[in-house]
Amino acid sequence: MLVNNLLFQGLLLVAMVAANAVSNQFSCGPLAYGLSAEDCEYMAAIGMAGQGQNAIGERDAGIWIGSEGPNTFTFVNTAEVPVTVIVWYRAEGDDRSSFVGARAPKISYSLPFANDAVDISLGNEVPGGWSALYNRSTELTPYGQINNTFGEFSTGTYATIDVSRLVTMSGNPMTVKVSSGCVADMKTCAYACNSGTDSCGAAGTYNLLNCRGTNAVQSIDPSGDPTGGCQGWTDGGHVDIMLA
Ligand SMILES: *[C@@H]1O[C@H](CO)[C@@H](O)[C@H](O)[C@H]1NC(C)=O
Ligand SMILES: *[C@@H]1O[C@H](CO)[C@@H](O)[C@H](O)[C@H]1NC(C)=O
Repeated sequence: MLVNNLLFQGLLLVAMVAANAVSNQFSCGPLAYGLSAEDCEYMAAIGMAGQGQNAIGERDAGIWIGSEGPNTFTFVNTAEVPVTVIVWYRAEGDDRSSFVGARAPKISYSLPFANDAVDISLGNEVPGGWSALYNRSTELTPYGQINNTFGEFSTGTYATIDVSRLVTMSGNPMTVKVSSGCVADMKTCAYACNSGTDSCGAAGTYNLLNCRGTNAVQSIDPSGDPTGGCQGWTDGGHVDIMLA
């Protein structure tokens, strides 16, 4: 949907700074609320630009920790290993928002044990995405994106959410359930590379899998590429996200 076409433009921009990625080494003192020291140190070691802002109950932040927002996402660790959830905001016109080697995320939250969960609130008309670090071993690509499965969203009037496998087709599974009905997972309302490549994003290189049924929408963008995802949460709603 919204973010896919931006991935490759961003790659070009960020290629210039990628060589500097490991020089970030930001400080883990003080720690953001909800982020463990081990996870923070791992984020610094792989070249992330910073800890999450991890605002608590602050609507002005657009994306914050808490369950009082018009939109709420509950992230659950359904893996057998520690998971660090990373959520970013896609500022208007910022093709690098998902490049966490260049941009500190909005949220970086530790879910160290199976069934640990966190509620994240989002205002309306907020676009962004998320991914996760598993077992302190997921790395960044040479361009500075998390080398794993992404979720992408836009809240508000055209609220839509999907799974994107364009950074890597071999990422960890996730399941995204919109409470009014519609699921995105690795095979449903998921953007996937056409075939034979682990990573893609240019026009004509990817498709949107099985995005049909209640609240699922699919159409074609001006380049002829698929666009769509799970709707049914216009101007507010709840989404459960299982990270496996
Ligand atoms: C997770 O990391 C620990 C410590 O490095 C390692 O012993 C364990 O095998 C890893 N688990 C999985 C499932 O990769
Ligand atoms: C991303 O991870 C996959 C699976 O571990 C690996 O095959 C691929 O080479 C990685 N890609 C990059 C760009 O690091």
